[in-house]
Parts: sequence; C-alpha cells; structure tokens
Amino acid sequence: MCGIVGYVGGRQAVPILYQGLSDLEYRGYDSCGIALLDGKGILTAKIAGRLSKLRELLKDLPPATTGIGHTRWATHGRPSQENAHPHVDCRHEIALVHNGIVENHRELREELISRGHTFTSETDTEVIVHLIEEAYDGDLASAVRKACRQLKGSFALAVISAKEPGRIVAFRQSSPLIVGLGEDEKILASDIPAVLSHTRKIAVLADGQCASITRYGLEVFDACGNLTDPDVRVVNADIDVAMKENFPHFMLKEIHEQPEALARVLSGRVKGGLPHFEPEEFRLSAEDVRKLQRIFIVACGTAYHASLTGKALFERLAGVSTEVDLASEFRYREPLVPSGSLVIAVSQSGETADTLAAMREARARGARVLAVTNSPVSSLAREAESVVYQRAGIEIAVASTKAYVTQVLCLALLAVHMGISTGHLALEEARKITSSLQKLPEQARKALKSEARVKEVASDVSRFEDVFFIGRGVDYHTAMEGQLKLKEISYIHAEAYAAGELKHGTLALIEQGTPVVAVLTDPSVAEKTASNVMEVKARGGRIISVTTPLTGGAFPPDPLDVEIQVPASYPLASPAVAVIPLQLLAYYAALQRGTDIDKPRNLAKSVTVE
Ligand code: AGP
Repeated sequence: MCGIVGYVGGRQAVPILYQGLSDLEYRGYDSCGIALLDGKGILTAKIAGRLSKLRELLKDLPPATTGIGHTRWATHGRPSQENAHPHVDCRHEIALVHNGIVENHRELREELISRGHTFTSETDTEVIVHLIEEAYDGDLASAVRKACRQLKGSFALAVISAKEPGRIVAFRQSSPLIVGLGEDEKILASDIPAVLSHTRKIAVLADGQCASITRYGLEVFDACGNLTDPDVRVVNADIDVAMKENFPHFMLKEIHEQPEALARVLSGRVKGGLPHFEPEEFRLSAEDVRKLQRIFIVACGTAYHASLTGKALFERLAGVSTEVDLASEFRYREPLVPSGSLVIAVSQSGETADTLAAMREARARGARVLAVTNSPVSSLAREAESVVYQRAGIEIAVASTKAYVTQVLCLALLAVHMGISTGHLALEEARKITSSLQKLPEQARKALKSEARVKEVASDVSRFEDVFFIGRGVDYHTAMEGQLKLKEISYIHAEAYAAGELKHGTLALIEQGTPVVAVLTDPSVAEKTASNVMEVKARGGRIISVTTPLTGGAFPPDPLDVEIQVPASYPLASPAVAVIPLQLLAYYAALQRGTDIDKPRNLAKSVTVE
C-alpha cells in the first residue's frame, strides 16, 4: 500500500528517487521520505503530506549516489513526520523503507524495548530496522534475511547501512518489488512506472527472495539463503508508459484510452472467429472444463463488479455454476469448494492482499487457479496456474476505469471459450457472440461521445449529497461500478440497487429532485427497470438514464430527466460500454467539487493489506 524506490549508481540519487516516488505516489500519498548514504553516514528527510512538500527539504541534502525513498498510505500510526519512512535504528546506521504489514509487531516491539531499543514512531515498520540492527554482523543481506525470519505478514523492504556504502538490500514477502537493471546503475521499485524512464530491463523478486544490489551487480538469494538466478524480463515499451499527455488528470486520459485497451484485449485472442488463448493463459483442457463443477470468482472493488458480470457470463455461456465473492469475505466463510473447481482471481494490480489470500485459500481447498490481471510482474500472475493479462496498460488514477472494461472483456472471452468446451454453446452461437465482442472497442469509442452531455449533467449532480443508481442484471453491475466511481472521487454518497429492490426500503429516501441514475441497456429487462423508474419518478426523483437505441424511450420522459444513449452492445458484456458515461459523470462531478481526482482522500491504488 506504499511505494518504495531505491537508487544505486553513478548519478545523483535525489532527483531519481523523487521522480520514482512521484511515479508511485498513486500507491499512497499521506507522507513520504528519503534516506541517503553520502559516505559519512545516513541522512534522512521526511514529512507528513504530499511529495511536493518534500521537495524543499531535499534541497538541503548533500550529493549522494545511493538512497531509498518511500511514499506512504498509513496503516499503523497516523500520517506524521515521525511515522513517515525511512525509519532508522538506534545507532542511526541503518535506514529502511517498508511496504506491507508486520502482523506480529506488538510482541516484537515489546521484546525489542525490553532489550534496550528506543522507538521513535507508532509504526509496525520500525521493529524491522531494530531487528536488523541486532542481527547485523557486517553483512547487511544476511542481517535482513535473519530479521525477516522473525516477521509475520507482508513486507517489501529496502535497506541501506552506513557501513556498506553503495549497497541496497531488498527483501520481498507478499508485496511487490522489482529491480530496474541499468547499464551501471540499479533502480529498485514497487512497480514498473518508477523504473521506466531509466530502463526496460527488470528483475522481478519472488516471495522470500532477498536481493543485494550494487551499481554493477545484483545478487538474489532464495528463502534458504542460496544464490539464485534473478527472473529478468524486458517490459513492453508500448503499453507500460504512463504520462498524462494533454489530459488534466490520469483518470480522464484512462477513460479515453478504453477503446484501445479493449482492442488490445482482443488482439491475437480471436482465431477462426472464436476466442483463442495461449496455453499459458488457459491451462485447462477441454476435458478439464467439461468436468468443472463450479467456478469461484474472487475480487475486490471494481474488479468485484466486473466479476459479477463474469458470473452471468460463465453461467449463461458456459453453463457452469459460478459464485462471486468479495475476496475479503471468501476466506473467512469456510467456502465449500468441490474438488475440480476453478477459482478465478480478478485483480488489476495482482497485489491486492484480500484477493491473493482468497485465491490461496481456494487453492488450498483443491481448486485450480486462473488469474485475470493487468500486471505481469504481480504475485497473482506468479502464483496462478493460468494467467490472462488484461493489457489495459498502466493505470495510474486510483479510480479504476480501463482496468474494469478490460476485465469484463477478458471474462467474456473466457466464458465463450469455456462454453465451447462444455458444449453449452454451439459453434455458430459462439462465433456470433465473439463477433459482437469484437465490436466493443468501436462501441466504447462511440460511448465517449457522450462526454459533453455528461459534463452538463455532472455539474448538476455535483450539488447533491446523495445519488442512487439502479439497474437489473448486468445493468445492475454497471450501476454498482458507477456508484463506486462517483463515491470515491467526488465524495458524494452514492448507492446502487437492483432496480426491483428499491421499493423494499430505499424508496423512502427519494425526495423531490433526488438524482437517480438508471441503467437500461439490456433489452430483456429494460421494461422491468422502466417500471421501477416510474416508481422513482412518482416520488419526485430525477432520472438520468443510460440507454441504447434498443432500450431508449422505455418510459415517458420529464423535462428534467436526462437520457444518455450508448451503442447497443452484446448485452452480457454491455457494462464495458455502458459504464463509460458513468465514469465521466463521476469525473466531472468531482472536477466541479474540486477534489483530488487521481488521488482521492483515504485511498490508494494497490491495497496490499487485509
Ligand atoms: C476502484 O476504482 C478502486 N480503485 C478499487 O475498488 C480497486 O478496484 C480494488 O482495490 C481492487 O484492486 P485490484 O483490481 O488491483 O485488485
């Protein structure tokens, strides 16, 4: 939930660390700091607040070519200068930054205090630096490994010692870490964007691995302390670069990138008019699929909303009973997972702690694991048996947009593919659906044309404190995603309901003028939703509807109602198109309210804590 960077090389570390932190600020942004090794010792600069505030302090730091940095999303201890990373040991000889949670920090802290250590923060992190201090006998990498053996939880670490200039030691356990391999420099980071302006060659650390990083060398040790070959990859230059270009916010840019992102999902994945997956993407044979008793999908937030549509797709197209769980609930509900089940973990980042834990729980209960993720270097991609990449390109805005639509399309292609194997879909029908799915990029492009109209509506909506979203079937899933977008970036209270459920209680909240966003894109249920719309209108609610040419005009309009039309797409995948005006609605309402759109309060892009 935090961003880590490290630099060792021949250049000045401060500007590189600062830039790296700003590339990772989406991971957390309530405090930040940097520690340098300048030959004489360790120097730190840290503050509560945004990175821009740190810039001033950095001017006073001496030149140095080795350093580590951190941008924080607080878990243990409020955002303050004391709690900001880096943390240092009692002798001020070791500095450390951490991403993750030390679950046994209380016991460790008590023990360390009883042995004479002095703590200066409320964080769980600080125990680690004191444990390393105790373990240090001239070899930082071995001290870090020794300290980590005492930790429970998730931790990615970067550590420097005044006694070992020109070296950074990193450790990864359930939180991501990569090392950018420059010619005569190395850049350590939590995520790819922070290394891209320096190199595209990266080493991906695996769980339990420790790395000793110097200007010219990288040594990776496995969990037993044996030297091992690093997992080196070259990052795709075309889709992994993230710059705002001419857009005022990443979110708006990413909304506009959706047609291309959808086209990338399809690229090479349709052959002979049918979905095609490479063997490493889908390792189940047709026989395995036929034998599947149940599919479990686990995900959080936006990915959960995409997964709800996934359930509809798998049940209707593949004929396999599918359960969708919020990942944070799955592992604690003692799920009955019949042997031979498939668990699909859906996660943009592939690092969401709850999703990883749910996936592991299902695997432990005998399920096979397929991941739908946007990150090839993630824990999820590493651990899953089959991995379908979303190819959305790096998503920087905390509010997920292109990740959502690419998840929906990946799941739709998988459902058709599996439907052919189970025999639930005749080839002709499968071809027809695949051809409809191929139209999604163009339909998304057309849906973006609603922008000017949505912008007008948004300025109105931004004046309200409560907004409701309704829909049926997959339109309900779209409504759920729409309300999450509005909530997270505009801070307007928003709720989504299955349209038929409103009258069972929530209708009491509808007053004169209350905005109700109604999604009616699925012709099979549009009329039913229209009846629920009429119930809202009878109580004074103001309707903003998202319809298609097939469902428009389903209810008599009032002068104050607004109808936004998007192209009619394949109904079960329609959230990939219908969500676009709702993303824009959230964006422009937030803009009107002057919130920090790309970095909304209290949130972070990658939630690596439970
Ligand atoms: C969506 O706008 C949010 N940022 C959030 O709900 C997100 O989708 C959720 O945290 C899951 O993230 P993941 O896809 O990386 O697992």
